[in-house]
Amino acid sequence: MNVLIVGASGLVGGNCQQYLRQFEHYTVQGTHLSFSTEDSVYFNPCDLMDERNTALESFSPDVIVHCGALTFVDYCEDHIAESYQKTVTSTANLLTLARQHNAKFVYISTDYVFDGKSGPYSEEQTVNPICVYGAHKLEAENLVIASELPYLILRITNVYGDEARGKNFVARLLKQIESGEEIKLTLPYDQYATPINALDVAKALALLLENGKQGIYHLGSTDYVNRFQLADRVLHKFKYKQVQLSLTTTAALAQLAPRPLNGGLLAHKFLSEFPGFRFSNIDDYLSTKTHA
Ligand SMILES: NC(=O)c1ccc[n+]([C@@H]2O[C@H](COP(=O)([O-])OP(=O)(O)OC[C@H]3O[C@@H](n4cnc5c(N)ncnc54)[C@H](OP(=O)(O)O)[C@@H]3O)[C@@H](O)[C@H]2O)c1
Repeated sequence: MNVLIVGASGLVGGNCQQYLRQFEHYTVQGTHLSFSTEDSVYFNPCDLMDERNTALESFSPDVIVHCGALTFVDYCEDHIAESYQKTVTSTANLLTLARQHNAKFVYISTDYVFDGKSGPYSEEQTVNPICVYGAHKLEAENLVIASELPYLILRITNVYGDEARGKNFVARLLKQIESGEEIKLTLPYDQYATPINALDVAKALALLLENGKQGIYHLGSTDYVNRFQLADRVLHKFKYKQVQLSLTTTAALAQLAPRPLNGGLLAHKFLSEFPGFRFSNIDDYLSTKTHA
């Protein structure tokens, strides 16, 4: 099965690429946009006529996994056109490509399609995004659903894990702990989510593909924590003392984009179909790290 992973230079895409490549029955091609890696080729889905989009000419995907989006939530809020292009237009163009190859489409989405009034959310609950990023992710989801192609929409939130750039929240904390620098953080206690290891997203994706599943699936661990608790779990694990951790509220932070406060995702549907699957939690991930 030929799998094209768009955004393989990132956290989720990189883990999906690495995980699927272990299996002989997958031939995986990953792409990047601005951050070139050894394992990926340049491909710009915002403009299918981009002259540099040559590396995929000989690759005929059976599955396209779209992990690319403009993910800086506050930046999206006042760069609406750029957010639209990177998140919605890229999806529309990749759906065109999927149609040409009769490929299944996998869209990686978010709990930001909800308003955060009644999370953690199941798939049946009503979407109602409250920021530009969330609205554009929902618009992209709707394009996928309307495409009439076989599809999977995997909603995730608060992703951590190993990645080339080590830029996710947990990875950055681990880097700071390793370097011994003083950590000063003011974090909201009222933004809740269900953090997930990107490797679990990859494992769940493989199961869904192998079993020919379609539709919307929420993926999330049993951790339901706020930003403060997440940082505290990491710092506590390594008994890190060089730290000033302060509590605040989302309102006090005055972030440009409104945040869904009671966010997070319930993976009941996925787990009822795959009862043998176990989502790891943040402590499992930390126990694989030796430093500190
Ligand atoms: N991280 C989270 O907590 C989280 C939570 C919920 C949902 N998600 C969703 O999960 C997906 C992957 O997120 P991530 O955390 O892995 O992000 P990431 O680490 O920032 O990676 C994004 C990847 O997409 C590429 N990319 C960006 N815009 C693109 C575009 N318009 N077309 C094609 N590729 C593009 C980037 O390429 P270059 O870096 O090479 O430019 C990078 O490889 C996104 O769709 C995001 O909305 C993430």
